[in-house]
Amino acid sequence: MDIATIAARAPVIPVLTIDRLETAVPLARALVKGGLPVLEITLRTEAALQALELIAREVPGAVVGAGTVLDEKQVEQVQKAGARFGVSPGCTAELAMAVSAAGLPFLPGVQTISEAMTLADKGFNLLKFFPADTAGGIGWLKAASAPLAGLRFCPTGGIGPETAPAYLALANVACVGGSWVAPKDAVADGDWGRIERLAVAASTLKRP
Ligand code: 3PG
Repeated sequence: MDIATIAARAPVIPVLTIDRLETAVPLARALVKGGLPVLEITLRTEAALQALELIAREVPGAVVGAGTVLDEKQVEQVQKAGARFGVSPGCTAELAMAVSAAGLPFLPGVQTISEAMTLADKGFNLLKFFPADTAGGIGWLKAASAPLAGLRFCPTGGIGPETAPAYLALANVACVGGSWVAPKDAVADGDWGRIERLAVAASTLKRP
């Protein structure tokens, strides 16, 4: 599956920062059951790589990827762990080369028109717009749509259930990313029912 096909699977990509390995599988199961099969595990905790590996192995229907992928070494690590895609908050020339060489479907982060142009030149036409809320939000995406007509975005950062519908209504938005579907307290309490309900609400958001 290429990154556009992965992004088409659901309107929302849950961004998951997993502290305790034992929460990984039930959390992923609740999200998949609620209709959100594409999951991003950020590489920001000690448990992240093992969590990714476990979900890839034990949660049928999940399309699990790695977030906060910053360098070539991490590209190798996440592929070994079973990541089907990668996401980065920004992008360097080295990282772009590494993911292309590895054949890892990738959502590189941008915050400016120039960064988007640089990545488009390298063949990336679906980009993470990050941090969406503070970098210009919906206004930026609307303004980018005419000059960057060939590009689509996955805005992430500061998006919640109130703002997601307006992002998803834009023609150049493929999907949005966010952590709101897996609140920390629900994960800590093992309240998988609440997470499933949040996923159901997110998965039924409409795209144009
Ligand atoms: C992140 O990197 O943590 C993501 O952008 C998630 O952002 P959010 O917590 O604001 O949804």
